[in-house]
Amino acid sequence: MKAIILAAGKGSRMQSDLQKVMHPMLGKPILQYVVEAAQEAGCDDITVVVGKDGEAVRKELGAVCDGVHFAVQDEPLGTGHAVLAGAGRVTDNDEVLVLCGDMPLITSDFIRELMKFKRDNFSEAVVAAIYRDELGDFGRVYDDNSYFIEIVEARDIKNHPTTKWANTGIYTFRGRSLLRALGMMNNNNAQREYYLTDVPKIISEDGKNVQVFRSRAPMSVFTGINTQEHLAEAAAHMRSRINAGHMANGVRMLDPAATYIDDGIKIARGVVIYPNVILEGACEIAAGAIIGTGCHLTDTTVGENTHVRQSVAHSAKIGANCEVGPFAYLRPGAILGNDCRVGNFVEVKNANLADGVKMAHLAYIGDADVGQNVNFSCGAITANYDGSKKHRTKIGDNAFIGSNVNLIAPVEIGADAIIAAGSTITDTVPPCALGIARERQCIKPGYSKK
Ligand code: UD1
Ligand code: CA
Repeated sequence: MKAIILAAGKGSRMQSDLQKVMHPMLGKPILQYVVEAAQEAGCDDITVVVGKDGEAVRKELGAVCDGVHFAVQDEPLGTGHAVLAGAGRVTDNDEVLVLCGDMPLITSDFIRELMKFKRDNFSEAVVAAIYRDELGDFGRVYDDNSYFIEIVEARDIKNHPTTKWANTGIYTFRGRSLLRALGMMNNNNAQREYYLTDVPKIISEDGKNVQVFRSRAPMSVFTGINTQEHLAEAAAHMRSRINAGHMANGVRMLDPAATYIDDGIKIARGVVIYPNVILEGACEIAAGAIIGTGCHLTDTTVGENTHVRQSVAHSAKIGANCEVGPFAYLRPGAILGNDCRVGNFVEVKNANLADGVKMAHLAYIGDADVGQNVNFSCGAITANYDGSKKHRTKIGDNAFIGSNVNLIAPVEIGADAIIAAGSTITDTVPPCALGIARERQCIKPGYSKK
C-alpha cells in the first residue's frame, strides 16, 4: 500500500520560523507521527509532499524515518495540486492512502479500518468522514447513503442542505482512478485552488464505486494543527495517549495530566511517577524506580529501585538502588553505579561513580573517576578547570574525602586514603595515607576585649 502525505502548507498561522509539520511534540516532529502511523498500518511506500522551502523537512525527517520519499509542490495551489505533485510513484493497480501531515493523532487502527472498508466494498475511492455538530471550516460530505456525491468546502456553500458529516481530509484511492481524476481537476472555486475534494467526485461521475467511510474514531484523532494553540491541544491528547499506554503496562502515575513523557520512552512495570515530571528523549526507567515530583530527565537511564527526587539529569546513567536528590544536577556523562547516593545540591558531570559512592550534600564532581564506596563529604569539590583546560581527578576505592576539600586536578587519591576536612590537595595522596593541607589553628586569648 502506498501513501501520500501532504505537508506543503505554509503554516503561517503558527507564527514560527520552523516549518509547521516539523514542530516538536513529545519528542518528535508532528509529521513523524503521521509517517509512523502509516508505516504501522502497512504502508511500505510513502511520499511526503513538501513545499519548495521544505529542505529542512526532507533532511530532518529523512534522518529518522527509513525509506520515505519526498516530492516538492512548488506553489501551494491546493490539496489536489499537492497530491498531483506527490503521485509520481503511483501506478494503476496501487492502493493509495492520502493523509495530512499536520494530523499527528491519526492512528494506525483508523487507517486499517479505512483500508478494510475499501476492500470489503470494492471501492475505487473512499472519503473518510466524521460526525460533528458544528462543521466549522470542514468540508461537507454528501452521499445518498450508499454512494458518494460530493464534498463542498465551507467557503463554497450556497443552498446546500445541512449535513453533520465532515471531511477528515483522509482518502484512499485506486491508483488508476486517482491518476485519471488528477488530470481532470480545475480550480473553479472560491479559493482558485485545485481541490482534492473534487477528485472523488470526478471518479464517481465516471460511474465508479466511490463511498463514504463513517469513522467512529474520537474527534481528537483528526485534530489538525494550524496554530500554536492547536499544537498544545494535540500534544495534550498525545500525552494522555502515551501515559495511558504506560499505565496499561503497570506504571503508576499519581497525576497523568501533569506527567510529560516523550513518545518512545521505556518505563518498566511497577515504576511510580509523581506529578510534574518531564521525561524527554531516550530515557529508560527500570522496575521499582520512583521518579519524584519535579524531576526533569533527558536521555537518562534510571536503574532498578532507584529513587530520584526533584532533580535534573541530562545524558546521565543512574544505577540500581541509588538515591538521587532532592535537588541534584546530573550533567552529561554522569555515570552512577549501584547503591550510590547523590544528595541535595550535588552536581556531577562527566564522572564515573563506582558502586556505593556517597555524596550526600553540597558537592561538585566533574571529570573524575571515583572508586567504590568513596565518601565525598559536604562541600567537597573537584577543581577540574584551570581556566583553559579540564583535568581529571582519580579517587581509589573506599577513600574518604572530608568536608570542604578542594581536589585540584589533575590529581590522584589512593584507595583507603583519608583527606582531612578543609584541605586543598594538589599532589598525589598514596593509598591508606592521610592527606592534610591546611593552616594550623592559632588561638589569641582575649583578642576581642582589647
Ligand atoms: C481540507 C479539505 C476539507 C477538509 C479539511 C480537513 C480540501 C479542498 N479541503 O481543507 O474538505 O474538511 O482538509 O482538515 O482539500 N496542503 C498542501 N499543499 C497545498 C494545500 C494544502 O500540501 O497546496 C496540505 C496542508 O499542508 C495540509 C493538508 O494539505 O496538511 C490540508 O490542507 P489545508 O489547507 O489544511 O486544507 P483545509 O482548508 O483544512
Ligand atoms: Ca486543515
